[in-house]
Amino acid sequence: MSEPGADLAIETSGLVKVFGETRAVDGIDLAVPTGTVYGVLGPNGAGKTTAVKMLATLLRPDGGEARVFGHDVLHEADAVRSRVSLTGQYASVDEDLTGMENLVLLGRLLGHRKPAARDRAAQLLAAFGLSEAAGKQVKHYSGGMRRRIDIAASILNTPDLLFLDEPTTGLDPRSRNQVWDIVRAVVSQGATVLLTTQYLDEADQLASRIAVIDRGQVIAEGTKGELKASVGAGSVHVRLRHAHQRPEAERLLAQHLSAQVQLDHDPVALTARVGLAGNGDGATEQAARALHELSSAGITVDNFSLGQPSLDEVFLALTDRPATRSDDPTDDARGQAGSGGPTREEGAAA
Ligand SMILES: Nc1ncnc2c1ncn2[C@@H]1O[C@H](COP(=O)(O)OP(=O)(O)OP(=O)(O)O)[C@@H](O)[C@H]1O
Ligand SMILES: [Mg+2]
Repeated sequence: MSEPGADLAIETSGLVKVFGETRAVDGIDLAVPTGTVYGVLGPNGAGKTTAVKMLATLLRPDGGEARVFGHDVLHEADAVRSRVSLTGQYASVDEDLTGMENLVLLGRLLGHRKPAARDRAAQLLAAFGLSEAAGKQVKHYSGGMRRRIDIAASILNTPDLLFLDEPTTGLDPRSRNQVWDIVRAVVSQGATVLLTTQYLDEADQLASRIAVIDRGQVIAEGTKGELKASVGAGSVHVRLRHAHQRPEAERLLAQHLSAQVQLDHDPVALTARVGLAGNGDGATEQAARALHELSSAGITVDNFSLGQPSLDEVFLALTDRPATRSDDPTDDARGQAGSGGPTREEGAAA
């Protein structure tokens, strides 16, 4: 195949899905190179699952075009289905069967003979750290085990393209790491993974390119480096011993970090988004310098951390508003909504 786009696992143009009044997917263009993890990052209701379902031929697009390995999802759905596998946000294995029974059953449905199905099941259970739980009913699995058996089920036959819809939402850090290892292993065998997530750090760990979607539209797209350059390199979180020192700490942080400082509700806490400094210094150097300035000024810092921007901070940087759900634009439960811009004044700061 040498037609244009042949090296793309997914290519969409102006993809649309409408549910009643809601434009769940509102004109999405994507180009996902084969053999990579592509991250689709967005808050609740952004349209991630809807987009994935159209690409996996489970939902009919209402507009635009989508191709998977060059096959149109609408007119060549069978060809698409033969090459993809979907691990849903909600696990699809049978609760009453054991882990082993589930995988053997699915293997048989895929046309494997019983011994081959058993071998493959045992191999996957071992690879996913589930050998000991192989004989347990899935309804007694923990959330992390459940997610792993679901992914195992979706790669019984190694697909060319695996959709992972929020594979780690709600998992503890250890289980998240196990799922990440599985994703890396799948890609190292040549598959392409489209991963949706609400976590920037997950997209950062796994994906080579990321599309940020909000209200059914792509609001940023690029490599991790490009995305970070546009949203800032990290966030500095500081907790002071004394609340009365906060205004001075705010002033110093604003001066020494090329950053906007936010005052948290907690009267001893501050958060600053760190951009790339003019002199090319990264977040770590800038943060170290800022910490030094605080202590030189006699400000006692009880706790200090440097993290990646949260999803809310990414949205704030890209849209000047926090992440909101498309089905409820008035939702401001995540705080910081309003017209005050990123820097928020608290009442009695003097
Ligand atoms: N079958 C449906 N009928 C009506 N509305 C729907 C349907 N499926 C999704 N929606 C709406 O479409 C929008 C996008 O939903 P979708 O499930 O794609 O979001 P998401 O990004 O996967 O969110 P989450 O992170 O919560 O899983 C939401 O407003 C949702 O309420
Ligand atoms: Mg979803």
